[in-house]
Amino acid sequence: MTNFKDNAKANLENMYRVFTIPEAPDSTLGRIDQAITDNAAGFLQEHVVALQRELEEIEGDFADSHIPEHPTFVSKYTEFVTDKLVAQSVHTASPGFIGHMTSAMPYFMMPLTRIMTALNQNLVKVETSKAFTPLERQVLAMLHRLIYAQDDAFYARWIHDSQSALGAFCSGGTVANTTALWAARNRLCAPSGSFKGISQEGYLNAMRHLDCNGLVVMVSQRGHYSLGKAVDLLGIGRDNLIKVATDDNNRIDMRQLRNQCNIVQAEGKKILAIVGIAGTTETGNVDPLDEMADLSQELGCHFHADAAWGGPTLFSDTHRWRLRGIERADSVTIDGHKQLYVPMGVGMVLFKDPAALSAVEHHAAYILRHGSKDLGSHTLEGSRPGKAMLVHAGLSIIGRQGYELLIDQGIACAQRFADMIVAHKDFELITAPELNILTYRYNPEWLQAVIATANDDKVHEINILLNQIIRMIQKYQREAGKTFVSRTTLELTRYHGTSVTVFRAVLANPLTTEKILVDVLQEQCELAKHEDLSELIAQLHCMAASCH
Ligand SMILES: Cc1ncc(COP(=O)(O)O)c(C=O)c1O
Repeated sequence: MTNFKDNAKANLENMYRVFTIPEAPDSTLGRIDQAITDNAAGFLQEHVVALQRELEEIEGDFADSHIPEHPTFVSKYTEFVTDKLVAQSVHTASPGFIGHMTSAMPYFMMPLTRIMTALNQNLVKVETSKAFTPLERQVLAMLHRLIYAQDDAFYARWIHDSQSALGAFCSGGTVANTTALWAARNRLCAPSGSFKGISQEGYLNAMRHLDCNGLVVMVSQRGHYSLGKAVDLLGIGRDNLIKVATDDNNRIDMRQLRNQCNIVQAEGKKILAIVGIAGTTETGNVDPLDEMADLSQELGCHFHADAAWGGPTLFSDTHRWRLRGIERADSVTIDGHKQLYVPMGVGMVLFKDPAALSAVEHHAAYILRHGSKDLGSHTLEGSRPGKAMLVHAGLSIIGRQGYELLIDQGIACAQRFADMIVAHKDFELITAPELNILTYRYNPEWLQAVIATANDDKVHEINILLNQIIRMIQKYQREAGKTFVSRTTLELTRYHGTSVTVFRAVLANPLTTEKILVDVLQEQCELAKHEDLSELIAQLHCMAASCH
């Protein structure tokens, strides 16, 4: 329970104090502040995941729904944060935390974040952001250039144009993808004749106007769930997000995509957009973007590339070819808080056509006036922080070449980990890394030999047991807190479409060493001997015996 004893007094003098007087250097907050400034990694090492407690138990610390009646001393509150929050959070920057897309952050981000917080700019309008607005426009132009490589004259013409925006800054990939489909929807259902446009008249009238039975968005079955939210919000409906089958490399199957397009068109629906993925969330694969661009062009629909994860691969001269065709996308999502290494809460969507975002333009009398340079007239969100500064910092301090090194290293590291898995007798590589994500599973040598000759039904039964084992190993490894990989479920043609539970590793932390990767596998082998798993392993042995 949040119970702060020794309350402070609620009087105006104390209220002025918290707004005006900084904490003394030797106060609890001052000391923590200094420790983080001196050595954030050390501070986190010491404080994060120090205690192993169940989430249900932790919930007890956050169970009181009363708003504290009296003010609390900052020092008391800081103790609470250290003990109950920091100690029970996840050390996402740890080099052994290779399970998710959240990894280390460059040091300079912390003091710069503090400056950003202190300035507390609001990017919705120039009146509350001044230089931050041109800075955000510059960042959008830089990323636009990374993708679309237009010439100097293009950027000179559009970068600060008050009538348009080269993209939109937002809180992450979800809002970026939603914004892309929002603009695509409004462009397809634009005002014409007596029809005032979908944004004015709504979906029903738009369908009547277009004389069609609905809109459809196409993406592979590896598409991120944010697209489901987007079609839900935009009134398109989740049933109209068509999940197209993938090939053995988790890339959209172009033949199936074409078939699906023919089917929905025969049903009288219109294809709003085809979405290509540059770096699938689960396996890190890249769709055949060039071919998807051809098809989109042929069908006259919007082509969106979800490069939330893989976009920064464009920094790499060695690997950018993997995203070939992205420059033909009408819109592209890139997340800042993924491979641009900025703190949480930064996404961007870039539009090839500087006029594209006009389709979602909105104005208000007191701000966002026509002709103003307010970025809020083109964004889904209203008030927004000045996080463009952090992307700008990354692009300037790390630079194109620095990001290239990070990307190249991540891909090489994933390849090395894949080689280790292949060479290890007790693991099976499930999806090889195309970028820096791979999946694999524990599959001991003796069982691999059984699976190789067993009939389909037996393999299916073995996989069901193995899935449980993988889930337990992953859970125990997470709870032990030394290293961490995530898990997901994939349907594999190798196993006739059976759902297979796999470990998922994301190699984006430049501090992850080969030794850590060895430790990850070793720990998983040890955990496979855990007594809780013995019953399942025994069942596998029985099954193996029955196969002979
Ligand atoms: C490919 C892809 N698209 C979109 C998203 C959504 O991004 P966010 O979580 O920043 O909203 C993710 C997140 O993992 C992703 O991997």
